[in-house]
Amino acid sequence: MGNSVINSLPDYIMKKLIAGNWKMNGGINDAKTLIANIINTLSTDDSQIQTRSDILICPPFLHIPAVRHSLHSNPHIALGAQDCSIYEDGAHTGDISAAMLKDSGCSHVIIGHSERRQNNSETDDLIARKARLALDKDLMPIICVGETAQERESGEAENIVTRQIRACVPELGTFEEITIAYEPVWAIGTGKIPTPDDVTTMHSLIRRLLKEKTARPERVRILYGGSLKPDNAKILLALPNVDGGLIGGASLKAKDFLAIAAAA
Ligand code: PGA
Repeated sequence: MGNSVINSLPDYIMKKLIAGNWKMNGGINDAKTLIANIINTLSTDDSQIQTRSDILICPPFLHIPAVRHSLHSNPHIALGAQDCSIYEDGAHTGDISAAMLKDSGCSHVIIGHSERRQNNSETDDLIARKARLALDKDLMPIICVGETAQERESGEAENIVTRQIRACVPELGTFEEITIAYEPVWAIGTGKIPTPDDVTTMHSLIRRLLKEKTARPERVRILYGGSLKPDNAKILLALPNVDGGLIGGASLKAKDFLAIAAAA
């Protein structure tokens, strides 16, 4: 599986990307069961989720080979990782390189998730370097941006996201593509979501800012993430410039994850 699943032209861009971020949850058997449930549900689904959306699964590193193995029975689901090393290779104990991810069947990698910014002190500069490395290894970076509760309350949300896009998104060559995930930090795992107006404002701001980085900003998918659930997916995923979702908690249940995909 490579970027061909995800990257074909041009009607592809019209499809939403529904991405599951499993985070650091479950053991190997849980991963196998979850992916089997997703594949089985899709194979008996008559709402044709897969012809209408692209599906991406981002398991923990260690579970990638098992999930890849299961995906042989469904080559239409793409595989991604949740992070990659800032280094290309060599003496970096504990790191996993972008090239290794590519080699393991990944087509995507999440970069700069707010949990990594907060818990692993990742800076905009480091995120930009990882995104560049991912692009150079032919992986699609999903670059995460989003404001904290305090930043939103103090009216700084748009300034923060502007800074993050400018600093984290590398200059893109003619054929290079990225994905952005707008994830308000206060919405992640809390059950709280922004108003549709706030999502619309932020996604159109991001689309405008992307003109500074690429000649083809319309080809960048801008995902929404943060407490995306079956009951709010229809509204959020229908908003202008919302090209899919990055889903944490609800991606751990096949039924909920696919209900979100169906809502798209
Ligand atoms: P959540 O997480 O869906 O559990 O809020 C989203 C994310 O962190 O990507």
